[in-house]
This record gives sequence, C-alpha cells and structure tokens, in this order.
Amino acid sequence: MVSKNSEIMQRDLEVIWHPCTQMKDHETLPLIPIRSGKGVYLYDFEGNKYIDAVSSWWVNLFGHSNERINNKIKAQLDTLEHVLLAGFTHEPAVELAHKLVNITPKDLAKVFYVDNGSSAVEAALKMSYHYHLNKGKRKPVFLSLTNSYHGETIGALSVGDVSLYKETYEQLLIQNMQVQVPIDQSIEAAQVALNCLENLLKEKADDIAAFILEPLIQGAGGMHMYHPAYLIGARDLTKQYDVHLIADEIMTGFGRTGKMFACEHANISPDFMTLSKGLTGGYLALSVVMTTDDVYQAFYCDYNEHKAFLHSHSYTGNPLACAAALATLEIFEENDVLGENEKKATYIKKELEKFLDLQNVKSIRQQGMVTAIELVGYEANERIGLKIYEYALTQGVLLRPLGHIIYFMPPYVISYKEIDKMLEVAYEGIKKV
Ligand SMILES: Cc1ncc(COP(=O)(O)O)c(C=O)c1O
Repeated sequence: MVSKNSEIMQRDLEVIWHPCTQMKDHETLPLIPIRSGKGVYLYDFEGNKYIDAVSSWWVNLFGHSNERINNKIKAQLDTLEHVLLAGFTHEPAVELAHKLVNITPKDLAKVFYVDNGSSAVEAALKMSYHYHLNKGKRKPVFLSLTNSYHGETIGALSVGDVSLYKETYEQLLIQNMQVQVPIDQSIEAAQVALNCLENLLKEKADDIAAFILEPLIQGAGGMHMYHPAYLIGARDLTKQYDVHLIADEIMTGFGRTGKMFACEHANISPDFMTLSKGLTGGYLALSVVMTTDDVYQAFYCDYNEHKAFLHSHSYTGNPLACAAALATLEIFEENDVLGENEKKATYIKKELEKFLDLQNVKSIRQQGMVTAIELVGYEANERIGLKIYEYALTQGVLLRPLGHIIYFMPPYVISYKEIDKMLEVAYEGIKKV
C-alpha cells in the first residue's frame, strides 16, 4: 500500500512547480508533506516530526499554531475577512499602523501597506525615485551592497547581488550598482567599506535615489554579518549626499538580531524601512513600507498635480493578516521576548564552541537569534549543505542550508532541550560529510 506521505508527494509533483527548486531533484529527494504544526514542530502524515530550525523561511516567531495568534485570527474571520484599502479602512490596519509607528525608529511616521517582502521593496524603491522626481530631481539608479538580497521581483532582484538568482535576468533589470559590504563583523571592515561608500557617493550621488541594505545580517547572502558602525556611517553619508537610506528589515525585524529592529543597534532612523516575515508571526502574507513625514509630504498635493503614489495590491493590509500582526505584537508587549532570546543566544553560542574542532568548519558567526556555520573544503557542485539537510531530516530537524552555510534561525519558543537536539543533529551531520 502507498503511504499517505507518498500519495501526497506524487499528487503534488503532478501539478505543483515549487519555489526556489530544481524540480528534477525530486526524482531522488522526497518532498515532505506536512499535516500539521505545533510549537517548533512540523508533523508529517506518518508520525514523524521535524524541528523547524529555519522558522519556515524565517517567518515564524512564536511557534506553529500559536493559540493566541490563532484566536485573534479566528475572531477577525467572523468580523471582516477583507476590504479594499483605497477609500476604505478597518480597525486592525489602523491599530497596527499606530503600533508600528510607536516601535520603529523615531522618524518613521507613515505606514504604506503591501502584501509580501519583495513587493514592499518594490514600493520603497518606487517611492524613493518618485520622491526625488516630485522634488524636481531625476535619480534613476539604486545602490545596494555586494552580496545583498531583497527579493525576486524585477526591481527587488535588481538591487540584490546573489548571482544565483540575478545573473539570468541581467538584461531585464532596473539601473543598479553595488558597493562593497564590510567583509566581516569587525569595526575595521566597517570603516573600509564606508570609505568605498563615500568615494562612490562623491562621484555618483546625483544619479542615486536610494541606498538599500539589510542591516547587520545579509540573510540569503549566506548569513553574512557586519558591524553596526557601518550603519551609523551609511546613515550620515546618505544624508550628506541626498540619497535615501532604505533599511530592509524583512528578515532582521521583530527581534531576530537581539533588538526589535536591527537599526536600533546603531541607533539610526532610515528614510524607509521594509517589514514582512515576522510581522504576522509567520502566519500570513503582509508587509509594510514605513517612511518619514518628509517623504509623505512630497506626494501630498492636489490630485491634478499628478504627484500621488498610485501603487496598489489587491490584498494590501488584509484584516486577517493585520490581526495576526496585532497578536504577534501583543506577545512582545506582554513577555520579555528579547531578554529570553538573549539567554538562548548565549547558550547557543557556548554550545557551538565544540563545532570549531571539526576540520570542515571554517567559522561561526552569530547575531542575536541567528547563527551560521561556514563550512570549507568543498566544491560548490558537491552540494554539501544538501547532504546535511537530508541527514538532518532523518533525525527530525529541518535545517535548510544556504550553499555551504548551515544556519539556525528557530522560532523563539524553542526550548533548551530542543536547542540541544538541533545542535546535536547539525554537529553529527557536519561531522559525517
Ligand atoms: C532581506 C529580505 N528582503 C526581501 C525579501 C523578500 O521577501 P518575500 O520572500 O516575502 O518576497 C527577503 C526574503 O527572504 C529578505 O530576506
């Protein structure tokens, strides 16, 4: 008899084209059908459970099927499932926007709702370009860091720099340029990179609308990390050269880096901040572009002056997603989430010391609840991360790698016992390859 897992997998492969996947891999690599989730665990149809060590693509904060978030969505469901946000509004969107303005850096005063991370990046880029145009300047170029990632739609892809995703589409991209990211977490590396930034802005700032960066951690670029001094310098320089600073906190937001937002490590306030992923606790697609009153005012005039930001998505500010986000923020308000995370991060750091004894471990880096182990000694086509991923699944841990980088970004509700299990499986996996 065919098992339920196999049956679903077969039916899936008949019709579904999966994201970020060479589908041929599934001739040998089984898909894992998930029946349910609870806390840090995902359960398949055969009684196997997996610790979700990557928070289902970095979205989940307080566990799967979190009672509080579930209840808030259920209550919202019986009240209002959706309404357009042009000409209409609803309480969850209003409440959430006020809360976001209160907790984000001081200059961010307006919330533009979108519905996923890449779309938030697109909207921020367009807003920045349009702002300068409304002020009488044509600045068609966007600047970003080498090794950056901001999503997969054409604009977002243009400001990214991971060749695996970008190269093929080079001819389709909007105008972009990259400046060197600090090579490591030292303050010296930050200074060197700031010098590059200054040199570039001196020459090209007249053409550049905005500088977009992932503050402190470049996620899809292999969890590459850098010092907050870079953010301080980048904020000063962008102000000096009349270039917007867009902090893409889609991955780093909501506590991942040890503070609510990564910008807080440098005490800076960007011109735009994009948020998604953890915004709804990992439940529903929602994103926002936060911006300043200065930007907002540049669009505020009579309709016939044609300066309005006429950008929209059907599911912008969906009430169910806003309700999930409100429940998520309530959990932060009522619990010392960041304090507990700090203890867990310290514990993870200590437990990881033994990994350095493994000869294929090059380095370990950590920022808050994100930890990455970089492996060495392999060719790219050996797909070593994939081998560790496959091993970890047999041991009940979901450890989806980034090339030869193994990383942990678990939901915050992970227990110390579950951390032990996650690390133990990673250790054995790395030792085996
Ligand atoms: C920093 C950053 N920006 C943007 C995105 C794109 O978000 P989405 O996948 O929701 O389009 C991601 C996704 O991983 C991200 O990490």
